[in-house]
Formats: sequence, structure tokens, C-alpha cells
Amino acid sequence: MSYTRSSSIDKTFAPYSPERLAEIVEQFHRDGYYFLGPVLNEQECFALKAAMDEVYDREEFHGDEEGDYIRGISLLRMFERDINFRDLTAREPFVSVVEAILGNDCHIMSQNALRNGPGEGVTGWHVDDRVLFPLPDGVERHNPEIRVPCFVINLLIPLTDVEELEFGPTQVVPGSHYSGRGPNRPENPSFEGRGPVSLTGKAGVAYMFHNQVWHRGHPNTSDRVRYLGGVTYSQRVVSQRFYPFLNYRMPEYVLEGADERLLRLLGKHKKGAYG
Ligand SMILES: [Fe+2]
Repeated sequence: MSYTRSSSIDKTFAPYSPERLAEIVEQFHRDGYYFLGPVLNEQECFALKAAMDEVYDREEFHGDEEGDYIRGISLLRMFERDINFRDLTAREPFVSVVEAILGNDCHIMSQNALRNGPGEGVTGWHVDDRVLFPLPDGVERHNPEIRVPCFVINLLIPLTDVEELEFGPTQVVPGSHYSGRGPNRPENPSFEGRGPVSLTGKAGVAYMFHNQVWHRGHPNTSDRVRYLGGVTYSQRVVSQRFYPFLNYRMPEYVLEGADERLLRLLGKHKKGAYG
């Protein structure tokens, strides 16, 4: 358990200016993704990557029993395993971008880190979960003058360099959250003339995408293991998804020292509709 060491996550980073924030939110809604560029420093990347190794190297976490932390290439509930992953959820400048899109009562829906070696990965094009705003045949797309609502954002940060296609970057099809359907082709999908964009960069770059945009991880054809940290945030109206779901209880040590914003991100809410 790595709550014994102190957090390396930088808590002094400033949010974007209100003007910049508004531009980013606008671009995110239009394109379905936003590439923030370099965000995490070397120490932060090192700490997060080490936490992933600690989970991956534990034999007992590989399985399908209650409490296990691994599903395929996903390392689950990383906030439970390491204080750096917990603190990452409240890291600027992205947490305030996420709040601007999902609301000031948003929370983390899950926190799965991805570790994929050669030939591994989620390489099929998809939207997460399901198409939330489907359109019937004959209706080509959602009206560009409305905003397709965003309920879930994936915020991802490579912890190893992913500068070229061979290292397996995330790819997205810009604007495809307006399609009202799943990817139009299993290979090389495009939406209104725009094909896949590869979100490449050095360790520490951050990017976020609408979970209804068509996306995948490009196959990792190199011999480098790809480490991808991050957070999945959702609107308050979407429930959190922490295995084993029924009777999940967040361990007390995760809450220790957390301020009100972090507690809310972890799931502390006021009474409200339905509860
Ligand atoms: Fe996905």
C-alpha cells in the first residue's frame, strides 16, 4: 500500500484564465476532445508509473475475485492503491476544465490505469459503454447548433513516451460524438471527412475526450510497454463504478487529509434529487 509515502502530485499549479477556460470548453464540445499538452512533471510521472508497477507485480491481483485490481490491461481503482493517483484527480489545470464541462458537483466515475505491452490494447474503434444519443437511419447527425451533452470525460496521461504510432497512442475521430451512432467503419473510420487524430506526446502530456467520441488505442507494435494514467470523471447524475459495486466502501485511508473538493471528487455529495 503506497499511502505510506507522501504525494508527489503538484498542488500549486494554477488553473487556466477564465478566457482560456471558455475557449477550451468550446473546443472540447465541438471536437469531442482537447489536447492539453505537457502537464505532469517527471517526478509525478515516475510516482504514478511506480504505483502501476506495484499493482501489476502483485500476483494475487491478477484474477477475477472480489477486490481484485486488474481487468485485462486495466489496473482498477488506482486511488485506493496510491496517494499520487488519488491526488491526481484534483490536479490543475485539468480538474477545473472538467468541472466547467461536467459541473461543480462532478465526481470521479472510475480510475483505471492502462498498461499494455506489444500486441495488447483496446485497439477496436468504439464509444464507451453505449451510444447515449442514438439517431435513426435517415437522420445523418445531431444538429451542430446544439451541444451533445457530455456526461463522462476520460482524462488520460501517458507515463511513458508515446510519440509515434508504433507506441500505441490514443486516437479519436473529431466531431464523431455528433454522429448519433458507433464508428462507421471498423478500420479507419471518419466523420464528415475527418479521420483519426493520434494523441501523441512525451510522458506527462494530458488529453481529455468525450466518452461518446469514436476512439481507440492504436496497436502497440513496439517493444515498449505503454503506461497510461488518468481519471474518468462524470456528472453527478452518473453513478460511480467501483468494483464490487454493491457494498463498495471507500477505505478510510483514502479520505485522510483530503480537502472538500477532493472529497467531493471521491464521491461526497449533499443530499439532493433521488437521495
Ligand atoms: Fe474507451
